[in-house]
Formats: sequence, structure tokens, C-alpha cells
Amino acid sequence: MGKRSKRQNKDPLELKNMAKTLESFGLKEHQSDEMKSSGPVEASSVRQHGDPTMAAVLAEALAASQKVERATHPFHTYPARMHPDSARLILPHTTGAVHDPFCGGGTVLIEAKLAGRKAFGSDISPIAHLVAQARLADPKLAGPMRKASRKIADKAKLRIDVEVPDVCTSWYQHHVAQELGRIRDGILEQEPDIQPLLNAVLSSIVVKTSYRKSDTSNKMEKHQRRPQSTAILFHKKAREFARMLEEMPAEPSSTLIHGDARYVVPPQKVGLVLTSPPYPGVYDYLPMHQLRYAWLGIEPEDSLVREIGARRNFRSKGRTDALKQWMEDTDQWIKMQASILEPGGAMIIVVGDGLVAGKLVDALYPTTEAMKAAGLEIFARASADRPDHARNAIRIEHMVMAVKPA
Ligand SMILES: C[S@@+](CC[C@H](N)C(=O)[O-])C[C@H]1O[C@@H](n2cnc3c(N)ncnc32)[C@H](O)[C@@H]1O
Repeated sequence: MGKRSKRQNKDPLELKNMAKTLESFGLKEHQSDEMKSSGPVEASSVRQHGDPTMAAVLAEALAASQKVERATHPFHTYPARMHPDSARLILPHTTGAVHDPFCGGGTVLIEAKLAGRKAFGSDISPIAHLVAQARLADPKLAGPMRKASRKIADKAKLRIDVEVPDVCTSWYQHHVAQELGRIRDGILEQEPDIQPLLNAVLSSIVVKTSYRKSDTSNKMEKHQRRPQSTAILFHKKAREFARMLEEMPAEPSSTLIHGDARYVVPPQKVGLVLTSPPYPGVYDYLPMHQLRYAWLGIEPEDSLVREIGARRNFRSKGRTDALKQWMEDTDQWIKMQASILEPGGAMIIVVGDGLVAGKLVDALYPTTEAMKAAGLEIFARASADRPDHARNAIRIEHMVMAVKPA
């Protein structure tokens, strides 16, 4: 009833535009209802299997739930990110370079850098790339970025009309869209080395300043923002980000690759692959950034078709076919990533049940089978029940560790 009356209040043109935008990403408005993350658990209630020492480490890592303020972790939201403490707790029990083939916003890479470990990361999402690149940038860029952001914000307060992408007009108050457009144009006038950082700051405010409810919900919720507040927010976020970046060590450097985990690997062998792939049918990682693509001039088409486990595929193909595809993809990426593990190296995967049309989809069995098929030996595991309040269900999340025989 509530949803119906909200829709009735919308301008018909607005509704048409919104539907068109969502359709271009293969989504319908009602399909992308909120995708809430699940709740934390105590380490003691986590079930442990295999090697007792490593299983206890995995259990503690899986139970991590404290708010983390260190380094660049708090800059920019990233859906379903790994808990930074999960990576921090695991790293000392492994050796060598680290790789995360589904690196998202770069959580694993930041922790590897803080631990003095060389790291590689790849992801299919251009926004993951933008965020991870900024969070891992050279701390020397923090000062120039902060200075440039002030100039950009001052100019963005002036009333000079700029172009706004068509798909954005219905998602913002007119003056907010104008300020965002001026910030976008102001970034293009800056030195090339700081432009990616400034774009990441712009990306960090485009959802908050829009009518979109959140990153993971495309429900439209109208609100009022004061003129100039968007420019002020941009400057504030840039200052906060600069402070965080200055806390980061300059070395060792991390390498980011924009690519598909089924086909792309780092240029060298690594001692640890630590990653959290998409759970079957839970998220649509790529379409949720539609406003960011529009503001940053990104064309995500190629990445959209390469997304693994997408919720929209489970809806369009049906559970059986989509699950079969997810299992084939899982086999393929694990085999590919196992190929760059040093003998004695470890692969640690965080994976959880999917939930499709109210039914749970087990992700553990296909994952461990794929690890074995890739020549790895299952070494330890921790599993926890996660209450999913949004869907009134209990979903199980696992951390599975396998090693490559020496
Ligand atoms: C659970 S998230 C990873 C979050 C990350 N661990 C973090 O802390 O931010 C899963 C990621 O898989 C990426 N992804 C989906 N399909 C992919 C593919 N075929 N190759 C590489 N990355 C993919 C999504 O873009 C998303 O960033």
C-alpha cells in the first residue's frame, strides 16, 4: 500500500525515465528491493572443522564485526565487503604475495599493504577498480588532492549551468545535479594523477545526494538538500579521505587488474588467494552503480554480462539453470586462481548460502568440490549461522581454506 501511494505521487515522466534507466540494466524497480547484509555472530558459536589451529583462526575471522576506522577502509561504501579484521587475522598465518580475484573495494589489499605484503587484486566492476585504486593510492597524492577539492568545491557553488546526464535528472533536485555536474567538470581541469582520487570522492557522494535509498536499494526517497551543500559535502569527503590516505604506508605497492576472475591472474605466483566471490543470487553488483556510471562517464556493458552469480540471472534464467551456470563459473575461477598458487600456498574463500525465491542455495559443497578438482586439499573450515532479518531466514556463511600440495 505504502509503495503504491509513493509511486502515485511521482511525475509520470519521472517514472518513465526511471523505468527506462533500470531496464537498460536489466532490472525492474520492484526487483531491486533492499538487500540487507546479515548479522554478526560470536566466534564461540562458529562451527570449526579440519586443522584445529587454522579452524580457530577462521572462526575468529568469520566472527569479526567491530566497526573499523583504520587506514582508508571507511572511505566509500562497498556492498558485501569483507570485514577488514577477517583479512587482518588471516594474513599472519600465511606467507608470500597475496591475491584477491574479487577484490571489490580492496579490503584484502589494504590489509596486505598494512602487513607489508605485496598484493594483487582484480574485479570485473569499474567502480570496484575506482574505489580500490583510490584507497591504495600513493599517500603523497593526499595533499594535492585536498587542495584541488577546495578549488573544485568553490567553483561548484557558482551558478553556471552545466549538462546533467539524462538518466540522472529524475534522481536529484535540480541544484544538486548542477553542483555534481560542476564538480565532474572541475575534476577534468586537475592534474591527471589526482583525477582518479577526485572521481572516487565524487563517486562517494552521488548516491547520498540522490533520491536513491542506498547503494543496494533503488527505491526512490525524495528529500531536500540546501543549495551549495553538495559542493560542501564533496570538499568534506575529500578532506576526510586525504587524512585516511596519509595514514597509509607508501610501500609495498599493490597491483590492480580490471578483469574477470575466470580468466585473469596476476603476473607472478602468490602464497595466498584470499577472496569473497559473489554468493549465488544475492546481489546485482554491477547494475547498482548506475548513477555512478552516468556521472563518471563509464560504460559498464561488457562487465554486466561477465558478472558471476547475479541475482538478475537467477530471476531471468530460473533457479536450476542459473545455479548450474554459477557452479560452472565457480569451477572455472577456482581452477584459474589455483594455477598461480605456489606449492604449499593457501586459498581461503568466504562464501555463503544464496537465497533465491525464498529458498536457500548451498554454496559450500560446489565450492569445496571445485577446490578439490583444482588439485587443492581442504585444510580447515569455519561456518556460522547468519540471521538474515530482511528475509526472515538463517543463511550459513563459511570460510574454507585449502592448500596446494608442496
Ligand atoms: C563479495 S564482493 C567482494 C567484496 C570485497 N571482498 C570487498 O571487501 O570489498 C564480490 C565482487 O565480485 C565481483 N565480480 C562479480 N563477477 C566477477 C567476475 N566474473 N570476475 C571478477 N569479479 C567479479 C563484483 O564486482 C564484486 O565486487
